[in-house]
Amino acid sequence: MNKIITAIVVIGAFAAGLYFGTSQTNAPVITNADSGASYSGGFDKASKSVSVKKSAVAQRIKAGKTHVVNDGDSIMAAVQVANSGDTIQVMPGSYHETVYIDKDDIRIVGVINEGNYATLDGQGTLNDAILYSGNNIVIENMRITKYKGNGIMGQAGNNFEIRNNIIVDTGVYGIFPQLGQNGIVEYNVISGIEDAAIYVGMSDNIHVAHNDVFDSVAGIEIENSRHAIVENNYVHNNTGGILAFITPGLPIKTTFDVIIRNNFIDNNNHKNFAAPGSTVAGIPAGTGILIMAADEVIVENNIISNNKTAGILITDHNNAPNTTIDPESDPAPDKVMLLNNIMLNNGYDTIDEAKALMLTELKQGHPDILRVGVSRDSCVINRHRYVTVGINDWAECNFTNTHAIDSYILDEPVAPREIDPSERGKVVYMGICAGCHTYTGRMIGPPVQIIQALYMDNPQGIADFIAKPTKKRDDYPEMPPQNYLDAETRLAAAKYMLSRKN
Ligand code: HEC
Repeated sequence: MNKIITAIVVIGAFAAGLYFGTSQTNAPVITNADSGASYSGGFDKASKSVSVKKSAVAQRIKAGKTHVVNDGDSIMAAVQVANSGDTIQVMPGSYHETVYIDKDDIRIVGVINEGNYATLDGQGTLNDAILYSGNNIVIENMRITKYKGNGIMGQAGNNFEIRNNIIVDTGVYGIFPQLGQNGIVEYNVISGIEDAAIYVGMSDNIHVAHNDVFDSVAGIEIENSRHAIVENNYVHNNTGGILAFITPGLPIKTTFDVIIRNNFIDNNNHKNFAAPGSTVAGIPAGTGILIMAADEVIVENNIISNNKTAGILITDHNNAPNTTIDPESDPAPDKVMLLNNIMLNNGYDTIDEAKALMLTELKQGHPDILRVGVSRDSCVINRHRYVTVGINDWAECNFTNTHAIDSYILDEPVAPREIDPSERGKVVYMGICAGCHTYTGRMIGPPVQIIQALYMDNPQGIADFIAKPTKKRDDYPEMPPQNYLDAETRLAAAKYMLSRKN
């Protein structure tokens, strides 16, 4: 019996057909740990049936071809010839390029050989390492370093899986899925990022787990997103550890239903080195968890230690620096739910506002939990364990754990976003431009209002500028070129930008 199975597997491997790039290499046999047998020792299988749920993408990806990319070849070239369902297997080596993936069901897998990685190295000059807009994209085992903009950025791709990557010293965002649904970010090591190491923007049904995130301004950021779980991460030596918030002015106006549980959030006291004026530039160094304007955020079973401003800081937009008010976003963080957490040595060098608030509450010591501004219908359990400011009037929660919720990842992959041609400008604007431009406020780029004044009846001028931006302002970074968008799409985005009223 065993032999027959082996024979079938061997034939299958040959039948799959390998594509070998330009030069021939002995590609190693890659064993997919998900589909293999499980360890059967130490546990009596008969006593309990163990079911392992396969990830959505693993279930779905068709058995396509494998394209092997060798050191010196181009990953992008392999993506260009790949079809949906194919795997791009990147051999150890150094790759200096930006990879755009606009097809569905593409899997990029780095090969790690005796500690040598497939490394995307932007050499301090390239903007982005991997940009995808396809659905069901998997990116695994890559090392990414020295890009100026993004490590891995997704634009409107659903059912993504980004895991086991090492992303160091890479620009503004490490892993940045935007406008996606049903995605997993897990087992990545990310450090030295100027804005957020993991930045989930305008997305739904997201799982961020088992990542090691450090030496960045923001560790893990859930922004204008819903139904997200952030669990089992090690978040240390950032300016702020884990953030759930609403950035005003973006096309999606809410953040709610976020569970932050079982994380180690330690020593997030790094000096803030974000671009001046950006939202995260306002985070006080020493913030373990920041909840700003987000609703229904549950904080449970984290170990939150040695964060000098506060273990958990809860604020509305009115009390936050670097934020403007968006009439369409409720500025208050409502229904915040603080369950059991271990809090140790936080708030020992806190901000003056916290000290003043403590005086009014006649509290002494260092604040673990600090709330400023309005927060309605919020609750806490075991509040006596912590030094708190601003939550005396919070209710007791009427539940104590989130055990019933395993994951917000959906059992079936969600369909790709339907993009009507007439919607193209809006989608590109929301997916790309809104990551850096808001209507009234300064973000990475200048406010859209200012741009509208400059380019009133001249969308073509914008389309030309974004294809090949030149340096315009001393107090802003240079805008990265958007020349991977075709001329028609650039014009559509420009027209949409000029039509925005908020
Ligand atoms: C990664 C961040 C980023 C993204 C994404 C981005 N921009 Fe920008 N944009 C900037 C920055 C930074 C500047 C300011 C550059 C300067 O002043 O030198 C800028 C400036 C501009 C300007 C002003 C040009 C001028 O003449 O002053 C326009 C127009 C513009 N962007 C349009 C767009 C459009 C349209 C998109 C989407 C397709 C977009 N941007 C995406 C960062 C970004």
